[in-house]
Amino acid sequence: MQSMIPDYVSEVLRDVEADTSGMLASYIPELATADPDRLGAVLATVDGEVYGAGDIDTEFTIQSISKPFTYALALSDRGFGPVLARVGVEPSGEAFNEISLESDTGRPRNPMINAGAITAHSLAGAEDLKSAERVEHVVKGLSSFAGRQLRVDESACASEMEHAHRNLAIAYMLRSHNILAEDPRAVVEGYLRQCSVLVTARDLAMMAATLANRGVNPLTGEKVIHEPVARQVLTVMATCGMYDAAGDWATQVGIPAKSGVAGGLIGALPGQIGIATFSPRLDSHGNSVRGVSLFERFSSDMGLHVMEVPPAARAVVRSNHVVADGLNAIRVLQLQGGIRFAGAERIVREIADSASSEPRVVLDVSMVYSIDDVARRMLLEAARRLTLDGHEVYLIDPESIIPNPNPGEGGRLAVVCGFEQLVRGTLDP
Ligand code: DON
Repeated sequence: MQSMIPDYVSEVLRDVEADTSGMLASYIPELATADPDRLGAVLATVDGEVYGAGDIDTEFTIQSISKPFTYALALSDRGFGPVLARVGVEPSGEAFNEISLESDTGRPRNPMINAGAITAHSLAGAEDLKSAERVEHVVKGLSSFAGRQLRVDESACASEMEHAHRNLAIAYMLRSHNILAEDPRAVVEGYLRQCSVLVTARDLAMMAATLANRGVNPLTGEKVIHEPVARQVLTVMATCGMYDAAGDWATQVGIPAKSGVAGGLIGALPGQIGIATFSPRLDSHGNSVRGVSLFERFSSDMGLHVMEVPPAARAVVRSNHVVADGLNAIRVLQLQGGIRFAGAERIVREIADSASSEPRVVLDVSMVYSIDDVARRMLLEAARRLTLDGHEVYLIDPESIIPNPNPGEGGRLAVVCGFEQLVRGTLDP
């Protein structure tokens, strides 16, 4: 059987293809020569599966889509404190190239607008790096997110540098507030080289999937950034990634995203998927017109909005029943799926409401594929309390989804291979 997902992506591309509204970016002459009809979309899962249709291997410059990734490098290289001291995390509500800084601190409001991105670029890598070394570090980092070696489009970079008056003005303002420590022109040159890195929609989807996958590249398995950095970047993308269209985007699409003036657009759903689209015509906010339409369809068709209610927590309790009776009675809770706080709360409530009389209680996690730390701790505490209440507590965990299951002071949790072992052992004379 062929997966239906590539056919679905092709269908959605056909649905948006007729929309030729929007304009190519003209303030960068090189971008004005792009083929306006290019159109592609790619979905990349956090375990590395890639589905795409259209122009998914056509190269274009990454532009502002580089910003979240360079922000991630800065956070990783310098730590949260020094970066947050120079770049805020508040949505500006202004255009991406607005020449505005916080009145009191002189900080750019966030790392997604040019002022913040120029600052973030200056914070990538060690403090004493020369400009060329910093660019090399950034390109290497972008390549790690993509899972392949990326390169700079020299003509696009030269074209933008020739007209970089606004970015230079921003950089000199940043220097005047000591947000930048280096020569503003050198920082802008480095930032524009970062923006001129060539990518495809396939690369961008994998970069987004790396963010969605706690910072681990699904293709190469490389841990590019740590989980707290990925979370910080996704959060800032969610609130600031679409500039002064961030509010509409959050309500209509609801996926942490970042756009670029060459027509790229990425979205990353934590723990699920990275998405990238490519269509060069832009709206008044500098976002790809057909890219936004594609994301609106993906979000509504596949229920990807981050505010979509996850599967009901009760779904984690597959069954709650008693085997045998009297002194041999065993209360069995079969659990399933991914368990986080809401699911663990449901399990604990089921135990509290039902495991009153049976001398033995079994937690069967054979069908659980993931359990986060808080849920693991809650289940172990439930085992401890059941022990203290006089129950024998058993855990069926063939995949060791709960390694070293120690319930702590006064608790006892016996791990058994399967239910048969338990019933045989219990019922044997
Ligand atoms: O600095 C600039 O203006 C461009 N290199 C990047 C701007 C951009 O991609 C805005 N995003 N939509």
